[in-house]
Amino acid sequence: MKSTITITCAKGISPYLREEIVSLGFPILAENIAGVTTEGSLEDTLRLNLFIRTGQRVLYLLESFKARTPDDLYKNIIKVPWENYLPEEGYFSITSSVDNPTIKDSRFANLKCKDAIVDRMRDKSGRRPETGPERDRIVIHLYWKGDRCQVFLDTSGEPLSKRGYRKIPLKAPMQETLAAGVILAAGWRGEGNFINPMCGSGTLAIEAALVGLDRAPGLLRGNFGFMHLKGFNESFFKNLRRKSRATSKDALKGRVIATDISQQAIEGARKNAMTAGVERLIEFGICDFSETPVPGGGGVVILNPEYGERMGKEEGLGEIYRGIGDFFKKRCQGYKGYIFTGNLDLAKKVGLRTKRRLLFYNGPIECRLLEYDLYEGSQKRESTNHQIPSSK
Ligand SMILES: C[S@@+](CC[C@H](N)C(=O)[O-])C[C@H]1O[C@@H](n2cnc3c(N)ncnc32)[C@H](O)[C@@H]1O
Repeated sequence: MKSTITITCAKGISPYLREEIVSLGFPILAENIAGVTTEGSLEDTLRLNLFIRTGQRVLYLLESFKARTPDDLYKNIIKVPWENYLPEEGYFSITSSVDNPTIKDSRFANLKCKDAIVDRMRDKSGRRPETGPERDRIVIHLYWKGDRCQVFLDTSGEPLSKRGYRKIPLKAPMQETLAAGVILAAGWRGEGNFINPMCGSGTLAIEAALVGLDRAPGLLRGNFGFMHLKGFNESFFKNLRRKSRATSKDALKGRVIATDISQQAIEGARKNAMTAGVERLIEFGICDFSETPVPGGGGVVILNPEYGERMGKEEGLGEIYRGIGDFFKKRCQGYKGYIFTGNLDLAKKVGLRTKRRLLFYNGPIECRLLEYDLYEGSQKRESTNHQIPSSK
């Protein structure tokens, strides 16, 4: 049965999420800063969960209704045929986004919602499903704003940013879905080289390799919310996975180079890349960002330096940002340069004119992806095939 499907995302990512949804052949019904709405069947949510890189949760709408009070909420939720979706002895958890004058604590709305579902299930089957905070099985999402209520199956369960490969997060890692959004915003689709100095835990380089291979990010995960629903079509999903594996490439056209000054970061990034199955495609190295090899042929070079909010302090960082400007000017001609930062004052120290400034959010922090055109100048290129200092 077709219904509305809303895919949520971090603020600022929806233009790239929209692009992904369209390229999977789904219509766009609505878009806002933190999500895109399309439509499809419950089986379509399996495809969306498997292929979407930039979304957080794939929410399948079960019911919309008006509710002014918690009692209205209960009366409407108990009418939903939960026995069609929840196994009698299953486990579910409730998440919510509530903005209603009668509700001071959203946990109360969750409790009402849970009571209605459990009461309905007990009436219909004589058994009571278990409930709790874990999101690794069935997740039901309640959206209640004013008197407008929507109840969704969160078919992702755990958010899609948890791809499963980042066993070693290190300091201030970028969320996987945000990294994918940044890569799509930079226009990298596997053509040219992808250079990522200051790679930290390797998220950008790993996501770039997955994009370049056209490999579905969901292939890395063994668990999704939809797998726990009654009637989950396991063979359909297995088939989807098999087909997507068969169509993904096994080599990249350009080089992916990831470096960091910290040996610990490179060891972690390498392990993460191994878990993601792309370690052989990424050339890792330990060095100062300014020593990162930049081969000829062009492509994108992306840095996510510290910006004073979480890791380093601001003092001293100005020098790094100035150095990035020099690195871009002297070593990255013919490339498109990008800096992802949450500190625009520091970004001014780069000293180059930005071509675009794209808005993103890293959690609550307003960030920008700054784009620089690094034209091929008169300066002679340095060697086109640098050796990367080994991390082994
Ligand atoms: C904000 S973190 C990058 C996080 C990364 N995007 C991720 O997802 O894990 C910044 C990284 O820059 C590295 N770094 C700091 N100064 C550096 C320098 N001078 N040269 C190279 N790397 C440096 C740090 O070791 C750290 O891993």
